[in-house]
Amino acid sequence: MTETQFTPRVFSGIQPSGNLHLGNYLGALKRFVDMQGPEFQTVYCMVDLHAITTWQDPKDLAHSTRELCAGFIAAGIDPEHSILFNQSQVPEHAQLAWVFNCVARMGWMQRMTQWKDKAGKNQQNASLGLFAYPSLMAADILIYHATHVPVGDDQKQHLELTRDIAIKFNNDFGVDFFPITEPVIEGTATRVMSLRDGSKKMSKSDTSDMSRINMTDDADAIAKKIRKAKTDPDALPSEIDGLEDRPEARNLVNIYAALNDQTAEQVLADVGGKQFGDFKPMLAELAVEKLSPISSEMARLMGEEAEIDQILARGAERARTIASPILQKTYEIVGMVGAGKS
Ligand code: TYM
Repeated sequence: MTETQFTPRVFSGIQPSGNLHLGNYLGALKRFVDMQGPEFQTVYCMVDLHAITTWQDPKDLAHSTRELCAGFIAAGIDPEHSILFNQSQVPEHAQLAWVFNCVARMGWMQRMTQWKDKAGKNQQNASLGLFAYPSLMAADILIYHATHVPVGDDQKQHLELTRDIAIKFNNDFGVDFFPITEPVIEGTATRVMSLRDGSKKMSKSDTSDMSRINMTDDADAIAKKIRKAKTDPDALPSEIDGLEDRPEARNLVNIYAALNDQTAEQVLADVGGKQFGDFKPMLAELAVEKLSPISSEMARLMGEEAEIDQILARGAERARTIASPILQKTYEIVGMVGAGKS
């Protein structure tokens, strides 16, 4: 097999299944913005087909999709530069996912920890879509021949599976067609933890709203949540080793570092020796300074629904110009009659 050269292309997605929170912002969205530039073509998606693997009220889904689009733009994604769209407007995702359902093995899917966590003891009652979810995710990425995928730490296993699917497809059909995608899991906020429990990931499904900062929270709510965040009684250390076995302290330092584009070491060099009573107001001030402009811009954009819909439609059109030939070529490789004609 010859080495194929793939265009450097970034793909990533976020589910429109509720509030966008600080973990999504620091672990994903802010990184998406950082990757916009001459080095990569950037493709970003509101993955509504993924969202319906668990029940979504149709009105809420439409609202969350538009709000997420507003969040992307408010955070700094330029829809002229990046391709920004919702997944269901590009049918090639679901079409390639079917092919991948026939490549991926049951055993691979059964090993997915997110499947086990989300379906829990109730696997018999979970949707088939929830089980097949990682195969659709692989299709999202590979329908663009994406080479780099920025995500938070919780998506690592899904990206390994994406590589396994690409390798098996290439081997089965004797081609070098799908790239072996690089996960980009970098920075100090790859796993932002709950503000109430440093051993749990910050998540939109946590029943306690105090556990997370939502991108729509106002300044008072942000400050209150940080003031009430769980901590320990000790002062902050000056060195990173001093954060070991102090998950809540580590989380707040990491959040500060990520918001301020610093490393945790740099933050500790400044704040080492301070008590939380002093550090929390610093963090609250920084969080409000960085997040408030985003939430007010989101609110403004949400008043321009028609404009958001137009951006998504235009993004989908641009996405299809990449996705459609890749799907046709895939069908041709697989042996589907008529492939490549449309
Ligand atoms: P989702 O919608 O759960 O989360 C979107 C992104 O936010 C990251 N993230 C976090 N990062 C740091 N700390 C946290 N507490 C935290 N919580 C969430 C996630 O890692 C993710 O990067 N399966 C994906 C969506 C998806 C996708 C894709 C991603 C579908 N297709 C293709 C990349 C490529 C998901 O459910 O993310």
